[in-house]
Amino acid sequence: MKPLSELLLNIPPSATIAVNDKAKALKAAGRDVISLAGGDPDFDTPANIVQAAFRAIEAGDTHYPPSRGTPAIRKAIAAKMKREYGLEVDPATQVLVGPGAKFLIYATLAALTNPGDEILILEPYWVSYVPMTILVGGTPVTVTLPAERGFEITASQLAEHITSKTKAILVNSPNNPTGRVMTPAEAEAIREIAIEHDLYVISDEMYEKLIYEGEHINLASLPGMAERTITINGHSKAYAMTGWRLGWMAGPSEIINLAAKLQSQSVTSAASFTMAAGAAALEGPQDAVEEMRLAYKARRDFLVDALNDIPGVECDLPQGAFYLFVRFPGLGSDSMAIANRLLEEAEIAGTPGIAFGQAGEGHVRFSYATAMSELERAVERIRKLMAHA
Ligand SMILES: Cc1ncc(COP(=O)(O)O)c(C=O)c1O
Repeated sequence: MKPLSELLLNIPPSATIAVNDKAKALKAAGRDVISLAGGDPDFDTPANIVQAAFRAIEAGDTHYPPSRGTPAIRKAIAAKMKREYGLEVDPATQVLVGPGAKFLIYATLAALTNPGDEILILEPYWVSYVPMTILVGGTPVTVTLPAERGFEITASQLAEHITSKTKAILVNSPNNPTGRVMTPAEAEAIREIAIEHDLYVISDEMYEKLIYEGEHINLASLPGMAERTITINGHSKAYAMTGWRLGWMAGPSEIINLAAKLQSQSVTSAASFTMAAGAAALEGPQDAVEEMRLAYKARRDFLVDALNDIPGVECDLPQGAFYLFVRFPGLGSDSMAIANRLLEEAEIAGTPGIAFGQAGEGHVRFSYATAMSELERAVERIRKLMAHA
């Protein structure tokens, strides 16, 4: 047989697969594994959103929608950008709605990248950024943020990695996996470097609605940034809509046009009634979003206190998202080995920090998008494990 795609064959396997496969095998064998590995809210999608989808289906909204997204949802997104960040975005030319933010990050990278262009990716990073960059023919350049300084972003560290080929910086706040929320000083550092070196900024703001302290900064709305920033966002986390597959991007029309071309020639569009539900989510009451945020905050507070109370376990207080990036000095610094011990000896599935790049080594990511009762059971198991470690 002729050889298959070298590009795809050479994408390195994710470090999460081994632990996840093991967790599944243990579960299948009847073991009571507590999974803290996922990124999927445990809440149901709010009822007003579900009802909007039913209404759309019953009204016959079950045909091909406009590839860029329905006018109604694009208008709702532009209104949100104006209301929340004071940013003027033309819904006709500067917004693209697609089947999940993940595809739109890929489409953005495809729109920006020529072969060999370098994309700066801040480490620890969300696992898909590196393979996506490789898939569009770009070169991922990872910037290892210092764990000992809480993964702080500084202009000097970014500047060290800039070459004549650097095209864009990919930023994610609130951050997966650390839960960190970018500070105004960090946003200013990114702005300064982007303008000085004429770079694009891809700002992944998926966890925007899950902030417990501090404020969200939309990079596009800072001075001089609108023309170079692509905002990525979506409904998955804020509205517990991961399975609906609905995301959006906003930015300069030339970039939106290219991303829209890729979308129309590949996946076509997001689903019609999903977009009807998505517009209702943005325009309707936001009480459910706040209820979920408060529930996550209570879980975060419980988990951070409880884990720090266990000798040999350490964890910072993250300001956003629904992840903790936990260190286990009592179990060493090899994150894969720690995740394996947690799974084998405490039946807890977490994600080894190395999956998020070298900067993540020594950490395990726990998701608290899981019921409080499960978190309480997990803490007890960790306490027992550490008592004998
Ligand atoms: C940082 C980050 N960006 C983007 C996404 C993609 O979200 P979706 O494709 O569900 O819209 C995720 C999902 O886990 C994420 O964690």
